[in-house]
Amino acid sequence: MEKNEILILGIESSCDETAAAVVRNGREVLSNVISSQIDLHTLYGGVVPEIASRKHVEQIDYVIDAALQQANVTMEEIDAIGVTYGPGLVGALLVGLAEAKALAFATGKPLIGVHHIEGHISANYIEHKDFAPPYMALVVSGGHSHLVYVSDYGKYEILGRTRDDAAGEAYDKVARAIGMGYPGGPKIDAAAKKGDPNAIHFPRVYLEEDSYDFSFSGLKSAVLNYVNKQKMMGETIIPEDVAAAFQAAVVEVLVSKTIKAAKERGLKKVALAGGVASNSALRAEMEKACEKEGIFLSIPSPILCTDNAAMIGCAAYYEYIAGVRDGLDLNANPNLKLGER
Ligand code: KG4
Ligand code: ZN
Repeated sequence: MEKNEILILGIESSCDETAAAVVRNGREVLSNVISSQIDLHTLYGGVVPEIASRKHVEQIDYVIDAALQQANVTMEEIDAIGVTYGPGLVGALLVGLAEAKALAFATGKPLIGVHHIEGHISANYIEHKDFAPPYMALVVSGGHSHLVYVSDYGKYEILGRTRDDAAGEAYDKVARAIGMGYPGGPKIDAAAKKGDPNAIHFPRVYLEEDSYDFSFSGLKSAVLNYVNKQKMMGETIIPEDVAAAFQAAVVEVLVSKTIKAAKERGLKKVALAGGVASNSALRAEMEKACEKEGIFLSIPSPILCTDNAAMIGCAAYYEYIAGVRDGLDLNANPNLKLGER
């Protein structure tokens, strides 16, 4: 393989996916191996941290071997190892990080710690080979809802964040309340397609007029109250309508705040990131709104929206060319802030 190219081995284990990938020059995915634990956690209605850590330990070596094999590269050909070191479940993060540090120590390759959200945002560079900052990013996952102004590679300004539940968390909790199980996002997405979004009106929470923050716990409570009230009155609940009406309320606020922020900063590019970015209603509504405003919209393919290691390899590449290197004393930081090292 020619050597004017940079190969990064990306490793991700912050939640319930054990993942490894090989990425060439930050943009080209040579392999993207994901071992999901979703079936296991479904039994408990959500991610059980202790089980997640144990499963990561069982899977991590196989996943890394598979990523190298599928990319048809050897460890010697890898230029650097990028690994998620926060935020996330500390026990889960530690598995990927310990593995990355062991590999870096044994091979002498540079180690680069990556912020999980930076990874999610970077998935857009893989999707569109010439997509570049500056742009407005809406990051919506199981643990985060952030509006981020990306002024340059690795340069982030958080304009808004959730004050309570993350968007994905709201999806998961509402799904549980209407008996759809875990993970709720994809299930609500599918059910909503068969429901009427106008059958029930749930509140759109915009907070203060100039705020880019989000709040989803009031909406979640409104859905739970509706469900309980219907049950008490002996009325039937149409889960598809509840799903569609809830989703419409979430999507309207996400789209409206993102467009407002992009316009205010004079940006003509918007990017979506995180597990909820694979939601079909959010994708469709954001597409419509961006088209109306003449804004280019980047959305990663669903497989790059939910947790994966290709996005970590991509983010690590930009850190690598900026000269970032971490020592073997790098620790997992479950509360790591975006843009902080
Ligand atoms: O980014 P991700 O894989 O993990 C975190 O970093 O949190 O996001 C997982 C979240 C879960 O809450 C899941 O329900 C949600 O993303 N999600 C969706 C969809 N697919 C996954 N939410 C709405 N619609 C979807 N299609
Ligand atoms: Zn994630």
